[in-house]
Amino acid sequence: MVNPQPTAKDDGPRHVAIIMDGNGRWATQRGRPRLFGHQAGARRVREIVEACPDLGVDYLTVFAFSTENWKRTQSEVSGLMNLFRRYITREAKALKANDVCVRFIGDRVRLDQKLVAMMDELEALTAHCRTVNLTIAINYGGRDEVARATKRLARDVAEGRLNPDDVDEETLPKYLDTCVLPDPDLVIRTSGEARISNFLLWQSAYSEYEFIDTLWPDFTADEFRSVVGGFGTRERRFGAVVA
Ligand code: IPE
Ligand code: IPE
Ligand code: MG
Repeated sequence: MVNPQPTAKDDGPRHVAIIMDGNGRWATQRGRPRLFGHQAGARRVREIVEACPDLGVDYLTVFAFSTENWKRTQSEVSGLMNLFRRYITREAKALKANDVCVRFIGDRVRLDQKLVAMMDELEALTAHCRTVNLTIAINYGGRDEVARATKRLARDVAEGRLNPDDVDEETLPKYLDTCVLPDPDLVIRTSGEARISNFLLWQSAYSEYEFIDTLWPDFTADEFRSVVGGFGTRERRFGAVVA
């Protein structure tokens, strides 16, 4: 990766990452169990993916389950894992038909083997697709990702494949789960929380952020278009002075 260059105005974000937050509150507001919110949230993903091509968004990355989300009740966690399986079954055909290349990031070791097999299958099914690159983060944590990358890097050093003197800021990203993705230009978080909750820590060093109040199950393609449209008015300086 070359260092990003300052531009007075960017046309639009090529890579948008979304922290899909607020499902639980959305359900609670309706007097329903939290899982009802997660189901509504999962249904939202399709229209956001489908809005990407017209906006010039080539990469969409969504945060579905964090390494910290295991702290939730067993019934919420297993409900979410079932939902991921159902999502893959239900959406695989449409994703392929819409030419969406799906990838998963996060540590698969702790996931149910049946789910991991379905994730592998969906990646293989859509590997040739080119219109949109959808990356779904499941059991993903930025710190965990950097720790796992460092472990592999250290192994390469220990086994003589990598010279420690050659390690620079372009080395580590090659070991991250996101190694084939560009860094996100824009990170959106729904539900009014202004924090990143361990999402894409390394990759978002120079991302623009949008924290919006809408709860994820209410986030429409129109709102997505308006947030993405606002990106073009931002001046990205990357530490330089723009004339
Ligand atoms: C985001 O919604 C989905 C996951 C973290 C799995 P939440 O479940 O965090 O919803 P709130 O924040 O409790 O409303
Ligand atoms: C971040 O949301 C993780 C996902 C959206 C998957 P959380 O709801 O887990 O984050 P915190 O706990 O509010 O920081
Ligand atoms: Mg939340």
